[in-house]
Amino acid sequence: MKANELSPAEYSNFCNFLEQHCGIVLGASKQYLVRSRLSPLISEHRCDSLSALVRRAMEPREKALRSVVIDAMTTNETLWFRDRYPFEILSQRLLVEFSNLNRPLKIWSAASSSGQEPYSIAMTCLEFQEKNPGALKRGFEILGTDISPSMLAHCQKGEYDKLALSRGLSAERQRKYLEPGSDGCFKMKQSVKQHVKFRPLNLLDNFASVGRFDIIFCRNVLIYFSPEVKRQIFANFAKVANTNGYLMLGASESVNGLTNEFEMNRCPAGIVYKAKK
Ligand SMILES: C[S@@+](CC[C@H](N)C(=O)[O-])C[C@H]1O[C@@H](n2cnc3c(N)ncnc32)[C@H](O)[C@@H]1O
Repeated sequence: MKANELSPAEYSNFCNFLEQHCGIVLGASKQYLVRSRLSPLISEHRCDSLSALVRRAMEPREKALRSVVIDAMTTNETLWFRDRYPFEILSQRLLVEFSNLNRPLKIWSAASSSGQEPYSIAMTCLEFQEKNPGALKRGFEILGTDISPSMLAHCQKGEYDKLALSRGLSAERQRKYLEPGSDGCFKMKQSVKQHVKFRPLNLLDNFASVGRFDIIFCRNVLIYFSPEVKRQIFANFAKVANTNGYLMLGASESVNGLTNEFEMNRCPAGIVYKAKK
């Protein structure tokens, strides 16, 4: 066996381990994905094969390596204002409904990846306030969480290169909300950053420590999870959603057959789910 291959039994053990620790279901034929994502870690962590790396990562005492391996196995693809319609629903309906709130509006981006989603939410809220003077007068607070330490570090830095910026951010918004940073990158201005906090959170854990939210964005991550895990996550979202709160899922995700605690609301721009409380 080559140094960057796993036997069928090792692959199967690794799949179980990954699902148990972060919910990601790899499926039978993703050996290539494990190989391409973990091979660079073999020498970095002084192992002599993929098999040795994976075996070590699965040892209970190897917490740091486990986190690195899980981080490498996550898919972090994201863009600014991804799919557009969630941000249209946010500005045309949700922010309108919450505009007279007598406390800060609380929004959660529950798989924030490198930050494009929570920062796009922040820009949408700022633009809403600009168009509607006096709206959301107690402000708005956005929490971005993710399991990936490297993505959270990226979020916190708030710096993006030209390629990342070209994916969904208009030149006008770039001028308005970002300023030149280091190495040709641009960084989020403080006027946006001040509304967004980040912290690590595994969606498999309970959400007791995150607080309560009026709007939860959880997009393009549940697709990797089993129905049982999604069911548990929806139940946990229902617990932390405020009365009249909303849940925004990814374009290919739905609550169908997985929870009765959210109902589908069709808006002209697309679908959002409303907490039944
Ligand atoms: C494809 S990105 C989606 C980012 C953004 N929500 C969007 O729609 O563009 C998926 C993110 O989910 C995170 N993720 C995967 N498993 C997770 C888990 N168990 N808990 C929290 N985040 C997780 C990954 O680290 C990754 O950043």
